[in-house]
Amino acid sequence: MAEQILYPAAGSKEEIYISILPQIKALVEDESDLIANLGNITAVLKEAFNHLWIGFYLVKSENELVLGPFQGSLACTRIRKGRGVCGTAWETAATQVVADVNAIPNHICCDARSRSEIVVPLVCDNKVWGVLDIDSDELGSFDNIDREYLERLCNEIISCKEYK
Ligand code: SME
Repeated sequence: MAEQILYPAAGSKEEIYISILPQIKALVEDESDLIANLGNITAVLKEAFNHLWIGFYLVKSENELVLGPFQGSLACTRIRKGRGVCGTAWETAATQVVADVNAIPNHICCDARSRSEIVVPLVCDNKVWGVLDIDSDELGSFDNIDREYLERLCNEIISCKEYK
């Protein structure tokens, strides 16, 4: 297993995504433990982009997400379906990009420093089983480049992998 990831630190975010995605694929390829893989993925994303908070919420019952592996400060533990940006991504099975979290009513504030957010659902066989949530302390941090590459990460690398 690689113990270090390499990426063009001074590059554009697209260049960084292009560099890290294959490395993440290689990192999780031979490991079937879900928590280990999600933990390492948050570590790689944190190192590459240094956003305020990067983590996963996992579907644990019919109507609730529970906090999974993450990098960042203390976070809300449970989120109900349809609540907040994460619960909306779950309910709609669609990526949510929020340029200004304070401008929308349906945002759950876990950290007052958060200004913008992207949440990508993890979908396999048409079923959402978790979400990837990234928070930034700057307004408008996420755009279609983040959407494209984070959806690739979730859809092609994480979502339908077999976990034991
Ligand atoms: N802001 C999220 C809650 C999770 S935290 O950001 C870590 C939401 O509205 O669902």
